[in-house]
Amino acid sequence: MGKPALSFEIATTVTQVESWRTKTSGRTVGFVPTMGALHEGHMALVDTARKTCDQVIVSIFVNPLQFGPNEDFGKYPRSLEQDFLICQKFGVDAVFHPSIDIIYPQGETETTTVQPPAQLISGLCGAFRPGHFIGVATVVNKLFNIVQPDCAFFGEKDYQQLQVIKHMADDLNMNVKIIGVPTMREEDGLALSSRNVYLSEAQRKLAPTLYAALSEAKSAILSGTSISAAVAIAKSRITSLDDVTLQYLECCNPRTLQPVSDPQAPCRILVAAKYGDVRLIDNLVVNP
Ligand code: PAF
Repeated sequence: MGKPALSFEIATTVTQVESWRTKTSGRTVGFVPTMGALHEGHMALVDTARKTCDQVIVSIFVNPLQFGPNEDFGKYPRSLEQDFLICQKFGVDAVFHPSIDIIYPQGETETTTVQPPAQLISGLCGAFRPGHFIGVATVVNKLFNIVQPDCAFFGEKDYQQLQVIKHMADDLNMNVKIIGVPTMREEDGLALSSRNVYLSEAQRKLAPTLYAALSEAKSAILSGTSISAAVAIAKSRITSLDDVTLQYLECCNPRTLQPVSDPQAPCRILVAAKYGDVRLIDNLVVNP
């Protein structure tokens, strides 16, 4: 028996996306950009897109421009067949799956790039992943130009990325509404991420401490502990774990991502830590 036919369109070229867009004329289009290895977190984005727009398109493209030279571009999880089945199950209307040549015909090192403001990208993940957000902003800009969506959906788990993209869309007068979707979690609190598959059994057991540390810090701040004391306790909870390296744990303004010390001010707490070689990030709202 052959494989079941897929019910959505697959576009691999810009022209194919354009002809799909012509067919969707008069209907609103929601766009979910991904790097594949789809999981329930991505499907929450698709669900929100389906509730918000008439048509939903997902892109699957592992973007070399957003990986540093010593990062995991080569071994980033790729599971295209499985991703197609998931898209089918969740009623996606089209999938854009371009090759690197289609996105960077001139080579990714020769392309024009988008430079987000230093204030947004010099701290947090940006401090540990130089060039990462230039790569993200550039590819998202290109994908928006190709897909021409009305709305685009991004997970709050990648909170700094969400802010970089929101600012880019505002600053460059892009005609697209950026919608953040809350993080999906495993029962033990671990945020869903394509990189979770890298975790060993022992690392997987320790990984929920990230969320636990954030939650404790949040409750402490809301019940009157100073931000600096709450952050210090959360940090020590993570640094006490074997084979875990804390990169940052900070309370920041949710829009500017600058450090916050006033416990009454709008505030989000963000963390990144390496469990062995596996880099995990998470964040939690403290004061909206
Ligand atoms: O969050 C991701 O999966 C990627 O950074 C994105 C937004 C698809 C850009 O490559």
